[in-house]
Amino acid sequence: MRLVACSLALLLAASCKNDNAPAAAPEVRYPEKDRAAEASRLLTGADWYRHAVFYEVNIRSFQDTNGDGIGDLKGLTSRLDDLKALGVDALWLMPMYPTPFVDSGYDIADYQDISPDYGTLADFDALIAAAHARGIRVMTDLVLNHTSDQHAWFKESRSSKTNPKADWYVWSDTPSDPNNGCGTANDTFGKDAWKLDPTRNQYYFHRFYAGQPDLNYRNPEVVKATLDVARFWLDRGVDGFRCDVIALLYESATKCDFIPETQAYIKQLRAVLDTYKDRTMVAESTDYSGSSAYYGSGKDMFHMAFNFSYGYLWGLPFAGTLAASVAKPFEQALAKNPAGAQDALPIGSHDVNRAFVAAREIESRWLRAAFVQMTMPGTPYIYYGEELALRPGTQVVVDGRDVARTPMLWSKGAGFGFTTGKPWIAFGADPEKTNLEAEKADPKSTYSFYRKLLAVRRGREAFGAGALKILPADDSSVLVYTRSSNDETYVMALGMDEEDAHTTTVAGANLPGDAQLLFGEGTLTREGTSAKVTIPAAGMAIFRVR
Ligand code: NOJ
Ligand code: CA
Repeated sequence: MRLVACSLALLLAASCKNDNAPAAAPEVRYPEKDRAAEASRLLTGADWYRHAVFYEVNIRSFQDTNGDGIGDLKGLTSRLDDLKALGVDALWLMPMYPTPFVDSGYDIADYQDISPDYGTLADFDALIAAAHARGIRVMTDLVLNHTSDQHAWFKESRSSKTNPKADWYVWSDTPSDPNNGCGTANDTFGKDAWKLDPTRNQYYFHRFYAGQPDLNYRNPEVVKATLDVARFWLDRGVDGFRCDVIALLYESATKCDFIPETQAYIKQLRAVLDTYKDRTMVAESTDYSGSSAYYGSGKDMFHMAFNFSYGYLWGLPFAGTLAASVAKPFEQALAKNPAGAQDALPIGSHDVNRAFVAAREIESRWLRAAFVQMTMPGTPYIYYGEELALRPGTQVVVDGRDVARTPMLWSKGAGFGFTTGKPWIAFGADPEKTNLEAEKADPKSTYSFYRKLLAVRRGREAFGAGALKILPADDSSVLVYTRSSNDETYVMALGMDEEDAHTTTVAGANLPGDAQLLFGEGTLTREGTSAKVTIPAAGMAIFRVR
């Protein structure tokens, strides 16, 4: 049908046909969609996690509401609108359980309660309700490999060799065990992996700090009790779990990573999850070369697994100019992962230093790392403060990882909106520059970059679930790739040269339409079956092909 101009009178008369009118411009082949409607379609139903932007929250450092200098659940609830405004769809909460805090809460003293530092179960329920009311999902950290030595289970287990929980942990008469040593005499932090318990006069095994004894999954009661922990939180309405060091559950004589018994347990956990609606779980993989094994068949283990080969190592390719090294981890993952797999993509976390450091303080590097995270296949996981380029701190309260666990900076002035009291750990560097209030007001800030990029990504199926194609650019410093699904294709261009602009020809690009720049700077023109791309120094661009 031809488009015609109608006068208001004709419109009111419900008739505006004019067959003599000149022909209108040809129709756009791929018309624009209602992106808000698309976003709610994509974020509804079992596949929501493919399209969501996740955000890892360190509750302790997010927002204090009672002046004790410690962030709390009420504080997080009060910040949901800020997260919504950024474009966040789902939260991953670092452990919020009662804890002696020898490993920042990864040492859990009670799986079914909330640390008094953070609030109460009622506060947690209120957080879930407030998040869900805004369309934000909430995932909790399920730490099943070990408990705290202050957990009631361990207190009972250590009390004698004959108590009902005597076999719930991994005990030995000697500081080693030929059947359970996992081929290591040391824990993750380089200390002895076995600790003498004077009451029981036996040694217990710990993969992490001595205050984190490993549970014995060869005892069926432990399997049942831990699956009940998952049910407890699913019943409370959580949308899923981030599963801490899940590969290490079962001990054996040699290497203990992801052995068959652990895989069988993961399938049981998944079966529990699948009795609830639209829940999802993500694995903390211990394999830096890829996480394909964590998906099982693609339907019986994890929905997502962290791809650390890009996530933690992106600083290396960005130190050079070779575009292929940025693409490599994604191509490798796609080649190895089973159908249905969805890698989780971080560029930082509570376990590594801030992106600011990985980027060697070069802004264009952390921005491009985030650009790749948001446009390559997978689900992005933002670590709180990355959207502000939060700087590292220097104070150590627990261990060296505290550099990336400093308080969120919300506004200018005393306490930076985080607390009215003394923060539990000192703020990171440059807080006057890297707070939300200052960055919101600056169109060139990291925050403005994130907000715009997430807005462009929103409601576009190709980014969450589309196919990836790396196009053959004739300039090795320019990465050109497409993401497409159904009737939409997006072309991304990334410049690895930080000094100069580049123009490159992409032979055989075969783009199905002309390019419209949606984000960043650059040009893309079709030249027959080829395309020509121009990108500024350290540039980024997203084009929609129409
Ligand atoms: C992985 C967590 O990310 C890390 O912070 C913790 O120390 C270990 N697991 C032990 O739970
Ligand atoms: Ca508090």
